[in-house]
Amino acid sequence: MATLTLTVNGAARSVEVDPDTPLLYVLRNDLELTGTKFGCGLAQCGACTVLLAGRAVRSCVTPVSAVAGQAVTTIEGLGSPAQPDPVQAAFIAEQAAQCGYCTAGMVVAARALLEQNRKPTEADVKQALAGNLCRCGSHVRVIRAVLRAAAAMPAR
Ligand code: FES
Ligand code: FES
Repeated sequence: MATLTLTVNGAARSVEVDPDTPLLYVLRNDLELTGTKFGCGLAQCGACTVLLAGRAVRSCVTPVSAVAGQAVTTIEGLGSPAQPDPVQAAFIAEQAAQCGYCTAGMVVAARALLEQNRKPTEADVKQALAGNLCRCGSHVRVIRAVLRAAAAMPAR
């Protein structure tokens, strides 16, 4: 066990864990940030996607020790029901979910795309989200939501 200090959603958080523990487990079990989901645990589905210094990473295969000193952002850190992030607002507007299990990972991955490319094409969105699986088949609405968010965000 070790005491690690993480920066999660802008706040310093100390946890006492085995350094090899997946970041996903620490987020959900130690920090009670349960918006990030466990899907496969094998980097295959994208449900556990979080931002690490603005990049999308799969927290199920990221050891918590690897993120010390870097900014971790989860779905909870993007926005709130009262003040949703533009991507969250677009997902709501397009009703881009069915069961919602994949949605946090989709939103976070979309946010990472828009950090890199503020005006993505539909092909760009499909490529960026290709590794985020949705067993409910909400992909068409997800793509529409990401394009809506891109249109709503200021150019850089
Ligand atoms: S739970 Fe991490 S990629 Fe599926
Ligand atoms: S909305 Fe159910 S898995 Fe995507």
